[in-house]
Formats: sequence, C-alpha cells, structure tokens
Amino acid sequence: MATNRSITHPAARFTNKVAIVTGGAGGLGRQICLGIGAEGGKVAVFDINAEVIEQTVAELIADGIDAVGHLVDVRDSATVTAAVGEVANYFGRLDILIAAAGGSLTTPRDLADISPADLDLVIDVNVKGTFNCAQAVVPHLHNAGGGAIVTFSSIGGRSSSPVTGVPYAAAKAAILGLTRRLAKEVGPAGIRVNAIAPGLFLTGRLQGMFDAMTEEDRAEVLGGIPLGRMPELQECVDPVLFLASDQSSYITGAVLDVNGGRFMAG
Ligand SMILES: NC(=O)c1ccc[n+]([C@@H]2O[C@H](COP(=O)([O-])OP(=O)(O)OC[C@H]3O[C@@H](n4cnc5c(N)ncnc54)[C@H](O)[C@@H]3O)[C@@H](O)[C@H]2O)c1
Repeated sequence: MATNRSITHPAARFTNKVAIVTGGAGGLGRQICLGIGAEGGKVAVFDINAEVIEQTVAELIADGIDAVGHLVDVRDSATVTAAVGEVANYFGRLDILIAAAGGSLTTPRDLADISPADLDLVIDVNVKGTFNCAQAVVPHLHNAGGGAIVTFSSIGGRSSSPVTGVPYAAAKAAILGLTRRLAKEVGPAGIRVNAIAPGLFLTGRLQGMFDAMTEEDRAEVLGGIPLGRMPELQECVDPVLFLASDQSSYITGAVLDVNGGRFMAG
C-alpha cells in the first residue's frame, strides 16, 4: 500500500529555484511538486489533464507554494518551447526540469496486441517528450548559470520487466542514452542530467492492479524484491529531489535504480 511519508529535511534545498515538472499532475509528479515546493522551490506543473492540473496547482498554492499549471502535451515541441518560455518569464528564471511525463500509457503488454499507434504513443511521449522538454529548457538553465534535469527511465528499461512490454522497455532504455549524451553536451555549462529508474510504485491504476491481485500473486511480486515490501511514493520522490538538488552537485550522466533491490546493476 503506497502512502505518503512525511520527512523533514535539514535544509530547504530549492529556495529561489524554479522547477518544471512534466507529468506533474500524475502520481509521482504531484508528490515531486509538493516536495520541491516544501523546500522553497517554485513549481510549474506541465500535464495533459486540465482537471488534475487545476487540482494539483490548487493543492500546491494551499500549501503556500508558488505554483502555476500549463496544459502541455510533451510530444508537441512548439507548445513545450512556448510554455517553458512563459514559465521562465513568469518566475524570472528556470533551474530544474523533472521529466516525469510518460509510462506505458495503457498500451498492451504482449507483442501480438501492440498496434503501430501504441508503439508511437509510448515512444513519442517518453522519448520525444523528454527530448522536447530538455531541448527547450537548456537555454534557460544556461541563463541561470546551470541547473539540473532529471529524466525518467524505469526498471522496465533496465531489465525485462514482466509488467510492461517491448515499446516501454525500448523507450525507457532510450532515455538512458539520451540522458548520458545530453549530460556530456551540457556539462560544461554546469547543467547536470541524471535518470531515475523506479521499480514498481503503486500510483493510480497500478495501485488498483496490485489490489486486485491474489494474495499468492502479491507474495510472488514481493518475493522478487530483496527489501520484501512495496515502497511508499516518497521513497521515489526523495531520490528525485536528491538528483535535482545541489546535494548531487558532482553527479551527472548517472542512473539511480530505486527498486528495493529487484534489479541490481552489474
Ligand atoms: N509508478 C511506477 O511504478 C513507475 C515505475 C517506473 C517508471 N515510472 C515512470 O515514472 C513516471 C511517472 O509515472 P507515474 O506512476 O506517476 O504515472 P502517472 O500515470 O500517475 O503520471 C503520468 C502523468 O503524465 C501525464 N502525461 C501523459 N502523457 C502526457 C503527455 N503527452 N504530455 C504531458 N503529460 C503527459 C499524465 O496525464 C499523468 O498525469 C513515468 O515516466 C513512468 O514511466 C513509474
């Protein structure tokens, strides 16, 4: 059962920083927005779901966080560039991109069931969306004298996950190549680019799927996780905030596996 763990941090790591969180109205994205805001950051929520953007921004503002929402499909490069420019103008700077928009997006898992449109959707949102957002923010991070980009891979891009299919595996592996190459290109400008690769975190629909499993199936899933339990959402949020903050100031081009030990890199 995923719950929200409240943690107090010794210092506010995002004071005077401005962050864009794509997929910011989603399960992990929303928690990341709250986490950045709780530590003094200003937040722009980019998502395609107007209703949840509105709810998320209202929640952030109610928590005393300076936040705006933008209806942005990350697949549309022109819209992304315009919205990124508006955020930088509105807040006067831009320091951080959290590129969380993505997922398998309700496409089928099994090869025979995957249509060309399914393949396009998964590649376009995850890979091209991450590219579009990174390309749009880099000039603004330059202007700010540096910054941090956190991309979203997955255990499904690091190993052969039984939960997600081939397009998702390809997309999340591609994000690792994107992350490393971009890190090399923008490192001299003081811009760090790192990927997070979460295991199974029970956001939205995934919680329902897990709850609907038999006791036996749940035990099998847990049996593959050395830490022997499902994570709380905050246990993904904290590593993301670490990569976005100056606490990881000498880390770039890296991938951080956050999966309870289910996949261990060689
Ligand atoms: N939850 C997990 O177990 C898990 C595991 C590994 C990786 N991830 C990755 O973490 C990220 C966040 O996942 P989540 O669990 O919070 O998913 P989620 O579905 O709760 O949130 C994703 C958000 O992205 C938004 N989105 C979808 N398409 C978009 C588009 N074209 N443009 C802009 N926004 C768009 C959705 O509206 C949604 O709010 C994803 O990239 C996912 O692949 C999640």
